[in-house]
Amino acid sequence: MEHFNIAVIAGDGVGPEVIEEGKKVFSGISRIDGNFSVSFTDFPWGCEYYLKTGEMMPADGMDLLRGFDAVYLGAVGYPGVPDHISLGGLLLRIRRGFDEYINLRPIRLLKGAPCPLADVRPEDVNMIVVRENSEGEYANVGARLYSDTEREVAFQTAVFSRHGCERVIRYAFELARHEKRSLTSISKGNALRYSMVFWDEVFAEIGQEYPDVETHSLLVDAASMFFVKDPKRFEIVVTSNLFGDILTDLGAAIAGGMGLAAGANLNPERKYPSMFEPIHGSAPDIAGKGIANPLASIWSVSQMLEFLGEREWSQRLLSAIEILLMERRILTADLGGSAKTADIGAAVLEILGR
Ligand SMILES: NC(=O)c1ccc[n+]([C@@H]2O[C@H](COP(=O)([O-])OP(=O)(O)OC[C@H]3O[C@@H](n4cnc5c(N)ncnc54)[C@H](O)[C@@H]3O)[C@@H](O)[C@H]2O)c1
Repeated sequence: MEHFNIAVIAGDGVGPEVIEEGKKVFSGISRIDGNFSVSFTDFPWGCEYYLKTGEMMPADGMDLLRGFDAVYLGAVGYPGVPDHISLGGLLLRIRRGFDEYINLRPIRLLKGAPCPLADVRPEDVNMIVVRENSEGEYANVGARLYSDTEREVAFQTAVFSRHGCERVIRYAFELARHEKRSLTSISKGNALRYSMVFWDEVFAEIGQEYPDVETHSLLVDAASMFFVKDPKRFEIVVTSNLFGDILTDLGAAIAGGMGLAAGANLNPERKYPSMFEPIHGSAPDIAGKGIANPLASIWSVSQMLEFLGEREWSQRLLSAIEILLMERRILTADLGGSAKTADIGAAVLEILGR
């Protein structure tokens, strides 16, 4: 029998609340299936850990995670610890350390999910954003000079390497070819004349190898407008780290809200574990109340199942989420219901068991 060993970093705020539901669903699916099993190993890392120890994760943290089949992460960041410390000391450290250079974010309006756009049908919002996840604007390069003087200067350097651009763009082309869908590159070559002109050149170069893939290129400002005005023009999207970060929050807003948006951090070569997470943060405003929506975390389980080779379960789980949304019986407050976080995992499993 196949066994999956999953490392769990539930993290801060609503992280532990939503992750609990995802674990319930993953374990429940393994029981229904009977041909694979799953075990979870919890790591208590995050802001509370930082306040006790001075670090977000221990020095040998990456070694501890290395042997797992996947990492399942809740959310990191909490008032009291500066966000650049919490993000840099845990999330970005894992993404970079395990070379998870693909951030895959499905933006799909499931039937029954709320959409703030007028006259939009579920099939109009159905894209996959491939976000560069290892360098770009989030490369850890910069300096602060002359601190606390009138001459104070801050430098934040974006890094666009040929290796980094080629691998994420090639991944997106392969995905578009496999899915038989168009590919849109989003950049900003008119203003960022070094990094983004280079990105556009690499996109055009790699495109020569994929004459069967329909391609489009958009500036990020125009793309933001089209995400709202005409989302159906986007099928597969490839973009940089910063633009992908912002655009996928916009994408989450048009596809059911933050409680429904999942993201996978992939090391496609499988040299290191990949990491699966809801894209929302620790939501300090609702933490501890038991009302956070865990569907994004449960969607992450669907992504994890697909990556682990359980494609049919991945699809069935997504359909179960869709049925839950359409039935409208058991939903959390952000989706107009009155259910608690802890009710949702069981409700999804009940649908899967029908
Ligand atoms: N991947 C991550 O771990 C990640 C991502 C974003 C922000 N953060 C961190 O989280 C903290 C809070 O950030 P923020 O407030 O900007 O973003 P956030 O995503 O935590 O919250 C934004 C809004 O969305 C709501 N929300 C988020 N998740 C929800 C859910 N599951 N169900 C219902 N409502 C939900 C919150 O209540 C809040 O009103 C910060 O420390 C930030 O750095 C972490």
